[in-house]
Amino acid sequence: MNRGIDPHPIALIGLSGAGKSSIARRLAVMLGWHHFDTDALIVDRAGRDIATIFAQEGEAHFRMIESEALRSALDHDDCIIATGGGIVLLAENRVLLHDQALVVWLDAPTNALIARLRTHDEERPLLSGPDPVGRLEQMRAARAPLYAEVAHLQIETAGKTAEAICAEILQAMANHIIP
Ligand code: S3P
Repeated sequence: MNRGIDPHPIALIGLSGAGKSSIARRLAVMLGWHHFDTDALIVDRAGRDIATIFAQEGEAHFRMIESEALRSALDHDDCIIATGGGIVLLAENRVLLHDQALVVWLDAPTNALIARLRTHDEERPLLSGPDPVGRLEQMRAARAPLYAEVAHLQIETAGKTAEAICAEILQAMANHIIP
């Protein structure tokens, strides 16, 4: 389905628990586009889960392969890319995202992020300590300016259905609110 929207990668950014993966899957179905998830690309390539990569090779190595995963996803025009929450930490990723994709920042209050994460099993190595709320707050403080720098559109997701969020993104694109 075309919906009058030009083919461009659409990248979803934001903290863990913001709903990037599920919105990406749903948008891809609505548009008939491919969908990528940088975390899933990393796991496929490495043959290990994210927690194991962090434990064995450290965050810097993870960030390097995350950047490669982003580049390979951005090679496709008509696709939706769900990114890991820390993708904006590398300046080169911020440039790639802003220049090559329509970037949508999905945001929600920390308690909503935590509630969402509790309903999913995947382990987030950076949130596995004793105070995930405090850690997410720290990440929000450090990353919000980076998300803002990269995003073409910010959506507050709390209290909205996935359908409503997707509709908001498609409407913004149709109205050329995002280029
Ligand atoms: C991370 C977020 C995770 C994953 C990794 C690091 C982060 O992805 O990439 O655990 O730095 O915030 P999600 O945003 O999908 O949880």
